[in-house]
Amino acid sequence: MHISLHSSLTVLAAIASLVSAQGCAEAQRFGILQMSSLTLSPGQTFTVTVNLTCAIEWFGIVPTYLDYHIEVPVGNNGHEPPIYIARRTYNQSASPPVDTFAATLPYWSWFTFPGAQYQLVLDNSYMVAGTNGSPVMVVGGTSQPINIATSSASSGL
Ligand SMILES: *[C@@H]1O[C@H](CO)[C@@H](O)[C@H](O)[C@H]1NC(C)=O
Ligand SMILES: *[C@@H]1O[C@H](CO)[C@@H](O)[C@H](O)[C@H]1NC(C)=O
Repeated sequence: MHISLHSSLTVLAAIASLVSAQGCAEAQRFGILQMSSLTLSPGQTFTVTVNLTCAIEWFGIVPTYLDYHIEVPVGNNGHEPPIYIARRTYNQSASPPVDTFAATLPYWSWFTFPGAQYQLVLDNSYMVAGTNGSPVMVVGGTSQPINIATSSASSGL
């Protein structure tokens, strides 16, 4: 009876941990990146929210800094640089554990390159223990593909 009850509890615990694992996918390790709009025009203000519940509570990754920029992974023409959006110090007391802020897409003539694709990239810098116990800051990242509507972009290069 005891053994069977114990086994049942063990199975229940295993199921509970599977459910938790399914609730926090590997892709959510460094934060779940959300934006108020996935199509942006130069001059447009948008809100970025990163949900860090899984990062902190499941993966134990507590951000020190959160850096945001827009990158051009496809159609880059070899020289289109990442565009800075924000550098934020994470409030480690934030409850719920989110980082949210408003940003404005800059006017940038290279947004007019045909075929270019864009993504908002988040770099999450966090402390881990080094081999001698002293802290090391490591960086992980996640990204969100976005569209940039260039109709209102300035035309001159
Ligand atoms: C953050 O993500 C977790 C896990 O996916 C979810 O349960 C929670 O509701 C989210 N919180 C917010 C504020 O969106
Ligand atoms: C950090 O979050 C806590 C809890 O929400 C809040 O009381 C505090 O004012 C925040 N600190 C900053 C610097 O925003």
